[in-house]
Amino acid sequence: MMKPLLAIETSCDDTCCAVVAGDGRVLASVVSSQTEVHAPYGGIVPELASRHHLMNLPCVVDEALAGAGVAMEQIGAVASTAGPGLLGSLLVGLSYGKAAASALGVPFYAVNHIEAHLHSPWIERPDFKYPVLALVASGGHSHLFFCKSEDERLLVSATRDDAAGEALDKVAKHIGLPYPGGPWIDRLARRGDARAVSLPLPRFTSGELDYSFSGLKVAALHHLNKLGVHLPLDADAEQWPQWAYDLLASFQKRVVDHLLQRVRGAALELHPAGVVMAGGVACNSLLRERLAKLADELGVAHAFPSPKYCADNAAMVGFKALDRYRAAAPSEIGADSFPSSVWQRMSLRHKAQRARREEG
Ligand code: KG4
Ligand code: ZN
Repeated sequence: MMKPLLAIETSCDDTCCAVVAGDGRVLASVVSSQTEVHAPYGGIVPELASRHHLMNLPCVVDEALAGAGVAMEQIGAVASTAGPGLLGSLLVGLSYGKAAASALGVPFYAVNHIEAHLHSPWIERPDFKYPVLALVASGGHSHLFFCKSEDERLLVSATRDDAAGEALDKVAKHIGLPYPGGPWIDRLARRGDARAVSLPLPRFTSGELDYSFSGLKVAALHHLNKLGVHLPLDADAEQWPQWAYDLLASFQKRVVDHLLQRVRGAALELHPAGVVMAGGVACNSLLRERLAKLADELGVAHAFPSPKYCADNAAMVGFKALDRYRAAAPSEIGADSFPSSVWQRMSLRHKAQRARREEG
């Protein structure tokens, strides 16, 4: 029987460790959030993130091992996220992973954070069929991929400016919500009328299927400024005036409309067997409901991970390294950290035009 694998994720502001069995079962997954550290600044401060990873990681690893009932000596391989992400933060998890693998005399595997997100729906749905359209939407990324198999993927859409989560967080901050604002908007938007404020859907004259969230964000901020009210609103978001909930509902709806518009356009062209999504924004209840409905309309299957595997976690990192571990691939102890990734693109120009025509 294969020994379990230890996985570490520190690419952004969550310190994460997981223990994954050789058969893909997640034995433990611990996430230590730094939300309170960064909240006063309204966004992530890279220096503080790496420093807190350094302080937290040993305890998070101990907790994951204890939760799995596995001793460090029983670990058969170690995997860490190498990028993309904040370099200082990545270095903490990467160095720790390499050092642990060296000390144990086991192989080390370097994992790409986006590839880990992309593969995360298979943790709970190991038989889900390719090819799929895969949406990765988080605070740092908004990508749509066409995946023919676990290791063959083409980028269909990427954001030209803000990521979806980033736009949600910025509008939330402006109106007076704590960081990260996405989960707050998800909850408060349920009290609002999503048709109350008219916000434009991004369109590109070049007809590409790319994403852009900054125009939508600016339109929402502009609407708020035009109201002439004093912002930010007071801290008790449960007692806000109705117009605030209406704006949040309208903005969230437009973000979801835009995310799905691209999925629809690409699906009509590429005929995937299913759609999947991952990343923190994939926790959004409206997005989950509407993407499931769209998949039904398109006659394709869908698989969305539980929220604990949507947001940053180390289980997905370990799961992504399993193929290499099972195949006894050579250790990647010399792997470097990297801040960004380049993806091979797929051009769907004429298809995008068709999708736009269908939208009217
Ligand atoms: O994947 P993630 O945990 O971290 C990275 O950015 O890599 O994603 C965090 C993002 C934040 O922008 C947060 O506001 C957003 O995901 N988010 C949500 C929800 N939960 C988290 N956005 C909308 N609705 C949610 N329920
Ligand atoms: Zn992420």
